Amino acid sequence: MEKSDNSGPSISPLTGRDGTLTDFGFRQVPTADKQALVRDVFDAVAARYDLMNDLMSAGLHRVWKRRLVELLFLRRNPGRDTLHMADIAGGTGDIAFRAARAAHRGATPIQIQVIDANTEMLRVGKNRAITARDALPVSFTTGNAEHLPLADNSMDIYTVAFGIRNVTHRAAALDEAWRVLKPGGRFVCLEFSNIPSDILTRVYDSYSFRVIPPLGQLVTGDGDPYQYLVESIRKFPRADTFADEVTAAGFSRVAVERLSGGVAALHSGWKV
Ligand SMILES: C[S@@+](CC[C@H](N)C(=O)[O-])C[C@H]1O[C@@H](n2cnc3c(N)ncnc32)[C@H](O)[C@@H]1O
Repeated sequence: MEKSDNSGPSISPLTGRDGTLTDFGFRQVPTADKQALVRDVFDAVAARYDLMNDLMSAGLHRVWKRRLVELLFLRRNPGRDTLHMADIAGGTGDIAFRAARAAHRGATPIQIQVIDANTEMLRVGKNRAITARDALPVSFTTGNAEHLPLADNSMDIYTVAFGIRNVTHRAAALDEAWRVLKPGGRFVCLEFSNIPSDILTRVYDSYSFRVIPPLGQLVTGDGDPYQYLVESIRKFPRADTFADEVTAAGFSRVAVERLSGGVAALHSGWKV
């Protein structure tokens, strides 16, 4: 499929492509500063990141990540060539480890690169890999989702979980996903999303803003990163709007699967 040209001069506060101001949670910050602010957030949370995920979501993030891995169809490839997977904004390696184990169960040879902008998150991931019971085909590389250190058409699978919300230029990151995937490659993104029900949205907002930052303060000693987290979720586009962005990046058969009533969503597509 021909890739649509979405690099025009339009000014979008959602992507920060105007080069001046962009969202950092509810604040507007100079676009050039956002990456460093996001880095500070994940520096602050890295050591307790996995624990906080369990506490904040009552373990639900595990169910969502399991579903993401199911969408990679890793159980259906015995005897095929090694699959190359890039888990972008892969942080502490959660998706990569799950995918590696699913591939192993499905006798699917796989090599997985976790790429993340934050060395602290990667350090936690590397330690997890070292202390894992099984040897995992997972490597860790520092890199920006907007300029991936990967060759064109080199990956069979691109995943990003709870990462796309944090990048400065979302359209650039989606373009990179399309660039690095081989024709026939699979794109799957897990991200927080919008809850269609107004009543449930009010309940969820109340929980998010009243519970999560204080919980972060209690567990990590710093509530500010968690304030950013809940604000950034509210600034992320609705599931249908984001699906349009994935399509605009060139992906085909883009599908949306809402999870837990819309708290999160899986967007998937193919590079054909
Ligand atoms: C919420 S964590 C998600 C980690 C992991 N994918 C998971 O689901 O547990 C978001 C990650 O995005 C990374 N990140 C933010 N902006 C990035 C960028 N522009 N390029 C690559 N990684 C980025 C952060 O460093 C952080 O590790």
